[in-house]
Amino acid sequence: MRLSGKTVTVGVTGGIAAYKSCELVSLLKKAGADVHVVLTEHALNFVAPLSFEALSGNRAITDMFDRAHDWKIGHISLAKKSDLFVVAPCTANLAGKLACGIADDFLSTTLMATKSPILLAPAMNTGMLTSAAYTANAKILAERGVLFIESGVGRLACGDDGKGRMAEPKDIFERICAVLNSKNDFCGKTVLVTSGGTREPIDPVRYIGNRSSGKMGAAIAAAAVMRGAKVIYVAATDAVAPNVPVDIVRVETTADMRKAVLEKSEQADIVIKAAAPADYTPQKVSDGKIKSDELKLSLKKNPDIAAEFGKVKGNRKLVIFSAETEKLEENAKEKLARKNADMVVANNVLAPGAGFSVDTNVATIITKKKTVSLELMSKAALADIILDEIKEL
Ligand SMILES: Cc1cc2nc3c(=O)[nH]c(=O)nc-3n(C[C@H](O)[C@H](O)[C@H](O)COP(=O)(O)O)c2cc1C
Repeated sequence: MRLSGKTVTVGVTGGIAAYKSCELVSLLKKAGADVHVVLTEHALNFVAPLSFEALSGNRAITDMFDRAHDWKIGHISLAKKSDLFVVAPCTANLAGKLACGIADDFLSTTLMATKSPILLAPAMNTGMLTSAAYTANAKILAERGVLFIESGVGRLACGDDGKGRMAEPKDIFERICAVLNSKNDFCGKTVLVTSGGTREPIDPVRYIGNRSSGKMGAAIAAAAVMRGAKVIYVAATDAVAPNVPVDIVRVETTADMRKAVLEKSEQADIVIKAAAPADYTPQKVSDGKIKSDELKLSLKKNPDIAAEFGKVKGNRKLVIFSAETEKLEENAKEKLARKNADMVVANNVLAPGAGFSVDTNVATIITKKKTVSLELMSKAALADIILDEIKEL
C-alpha cells in the first residue's frame, strides 16, 4: 500500500469544507497510513469527532488539556511521530497563527513543534484569500517551507463565486503521497530555474515573443521542491507557475532575465535554464505605437545568459536546454562546451509530443560523462530524471 508505515496527522479547522476531510481521512487510511485527526474548537461546530474516529481507527484530539490520554505530552509526541501534517481545510485564522507563532490550542501547538512537512489546504471566502493579511501570512509560511495545495475556483459556501474552495480530497491525498514518497535528496539545496519565453518590445503595444509556455520549467521547479529544494523561479511574463511554493521573480525581457539570474544565482547551488530567452531584440524601441504601412525591424543579439553565468559559476552546477530542429547531439555537445555547462537537455522540437506548450517531451541528456536518450514521457517524469542526473554530476 502506498502509505504503509507512514503516520499522517490531519488537522481540521473551522470551515464549511471540514466535512470533506472525512473523505481525505478515509483515503489515507485505505492507503495504509496510521491517521490521527486533530480538530480545533471551531471545527467542532461543523463536524463531529466520531466520524473521524470511525474512519481513522484512532481517537480524535479536540482538547489541549484533555488528560484522559495514556501518553506523555500529547502535542510533542504527535509532532515527533507524524511523518506529515496536513491541515484541511486550513482557515485564514490557522494560517495567521502559524505565521505568527501563536500556539493556543492543540493543533497550532503541534504544528509549531513538528519538524515534519506541513501541507496546508486553504479554504476560505475569496475576500479573505486575497486579503493583505492572508497573502502576507501565506508568503511567510511558504518561505519557511510550508507546503500549500492551492484552493480552487467555484461556487463558495457563502454564495460567492471565486477562488477559495478547498482542493479536492483526492488531489490532497495524491500530494501527500508525492511528498511522503519523495526522495528528499535535494534538502538544503537552492535551485534556480528559469522558465518561459521572454518578450522584446517593439513599441508600447507590441513585442517579439516565442512559443515557450514554461511547462518544462514549472515541472522542474515542482519536482525540485518535492525533493526538498528551495526554488527560485525566474519566470517570463506568461510562463506557468508551479503549484508549489517557490520564490517567483517575474521578468519581461532577456535583459531582465539576465539581471535576475546573475543576481539570484548567488544564492543557488544549481542553475537550470529551462527558459527560452529571445536571442534578438530590436535595436530601437519606438516611444509611440508604430502606424506605418511597412515595418522594417533591425535586431541586435541579446546577451547569452547561460554562457555568461558559465564563466563565473565556480562550484555551482549549470544545466541548459537546447531546442534543436537538426543535428541534435552535435549542436548540444557544442553548446555544453562553449557555455561551460555541466548538462544539456536537448530536444528536437519537431518530434511528435516534444517541445513547446505540450505536457510531454522527448529529450536527450548529455553530460561530460554520458549521453542518455529518453523516450516520450511527461514533463513531470522528465523533470525527475533530470534531477536524478544532476545528483550524478
Ligand atoms: C458558517 C461559517 C463558515 C466559515 N467558513 C470559513 C472558511 O471556509 N474559511 C475560514 O478561514 N474561516 C471560515 N469561518 C470562520 C472561522 O470559523 C473562524 O475564523 C474561526 O475563528 C476559525 O477557527 P480555527 O481556525 O481555530 O478553526 C467560517 C465561519 C462560519 C460561521
